[in-house]
Amino acid sequence: MTALEGESIRLRPLASRDYPTVHAWYQDPELVAPFDRYAPDTFDEFVRSMEVAADDPASLAPRFGIEEKSSGVLVGAVGHYVPHPVLEYLEVWYLLGDRERRGRGYGREAVRLLVDYLFATRSIERVGATVDVENAASNHLIAGLGFHVDGTLRSALFHHGRWHDVYAYGITRPEWSARPPRA
Ligand SMILES: CC(C)(COP(=O)(O)OP(=O)(O)OC[C@H]1O[C@@H](n2cnc3c(N)ncnc32)[C@H](O)[C@@H]1OP(=O)(O)O)[C@@H](O)C(=O)NCCC(=O)NCCS
Repeated sequence: MTALEGESIRLRPLASRDYPTVHAWYQDPELVAPFDRYAPDTFDEFVRSMEVAADDPASLAPRFGIEEKSSGVLVGAVGHYVPHPVLEYLEVWYLLGDRERRGRGYGREAVRLLVDYLFATRSIERVGATVDVENAASNHLIAGLGFHVDGTLRSALFHHGRWHDVYAYGITRPEWSARPPRA
């Protein structure tokens, strides 16, 4: 799989040399919260999940690393997965593990590249994202890309000792094609 080139970042496959960095991000409670279903406890579990991800469309393991083009530093990761056994669409997720580099537009650019790639390579009509209603940064990012809230999944995610409501976002292929180029 080749890299997907953006202006400030590129999405590239993760290599084993990246694994310690990415695994360390999953030890951060703030980062783990949105990914409670995918929080490998040990480094070995993380490596195993990466090894089988290519053959598992439902895997929550990272699919691409986010690399800052100016420095070559790995700053985050994105993923996509089949969320439902019957419905035919993909969900995306995203994280900027390098907190110092948040707020520079990297997350937004990474998700834009990922959704472009999915609509270009898969015969799907919808891409979704599920976001904790309290996750301001993620809600801002995904809504800014033109995703719509299709509904609220009440008490769908457990973290930090309680159940959280989650917005189910989606965007269709025609909506994605019609959005302004920089959105
Ligand atoms: C969500 C996340 C990926 C955003 O990454 P980022 O690179 O900082 O985001 P960007 O710089 O591309 O910002 C995208 C938009 O969100 C806004 N934003 C960023 N952080 C914000 C915050 N804390 N509160 C409100 N808005 C915020 C930006 O202003 C920008 O809006 P704009 O396009 O109108 O200017 C990052 O905060 C993160 O990794 N969070 C933890 C993991 C997570 O929650 N992932 C999502 C799971 S659903």
